[in-house]
Amino acid sequence: MSASIRDVIRERRTIRTFNNDPIEKEAIIQLLDDASWAPNHKLRQPWRLVMFYGKGNESLSEQMKNLSKQVSDEGAAKKIGKMAEKFSQSQANIIITVPKDENEMKQEEDFSAVSAFIQNFLLLAWEQEIGVLWKTGKLIHQPGFRKIAGIKEDEAIVGVLMLGKFDDVPAPKPREAIIEKLRLIEA
Ligand SMILES: Cc1cc2nc3c(=O)[nH]c(=O)nc-3n(C[C@H](O)[C@H](O)[C@H](O)COP(=O)(O)O)c2cc1C
Repeated sequence: MSASIRDVIRERRTIRTFNNDPIEKEAIIQLLDDASWAPNHKLRQPWRLVMFYGKGNESLSEQMKNLSKQVSDEGAAKKIGKMAEKFSQSQANIIITVPKDENEMKQEEDFSAVSAFIQNFLLLAWEQEIGVLWKTGKLIHQPGFRKIAGIKEDEAIVGVLMLGKFDDVPAPKPREAIIEKLRLIEA
């Protein structure tokens, strides 16, 4: 019997250490297609994707290594070098972007829709025993990284999804009981 959605939601973990088992490109594309059934306002479907896979992944890693040599800030250079290494250890790296919009309301809606898309994807991947790390931080604001990925100024990066098979599942980080966050109004 397949796991319930409840189980998948509760058991999914962020995976940061991948093994070398391959994942078929077509399987990833199918998961992305399924994820696109996420709710989105006015059916704008605001998710945009750049996927590095196979030799593309090697090229990304290589370009990141070069970038780390060009960055003058020593700390930043070290981090970029580390990411270059990480990108070569995953089976695919998917950069998810959203079009920028001067209309703040539209921008918020679209960012929310892309987050729903990503969560769909994380759960669908978990169901197929594919681990994902949703990476953000300074990396996604690094101009050199944007250039490597060919992301234009009119798009914001929501995250980089690093995918791979895995041997170990990290221990869960328990959540606070929702009652702590809930203001219930009954009358
Ligand atoms: C918007 C967002 C950004 C994240 N960025 C990072 C990141 O840059 N590096 C990282 O290791 N994990 C990142 N994570 C993963 C969280 O750290 C992770 O979800 C959290 O520790 C809870 O663990 P779990 O996903 O296994 O339940 C991010 C998650 C979200 C939703």
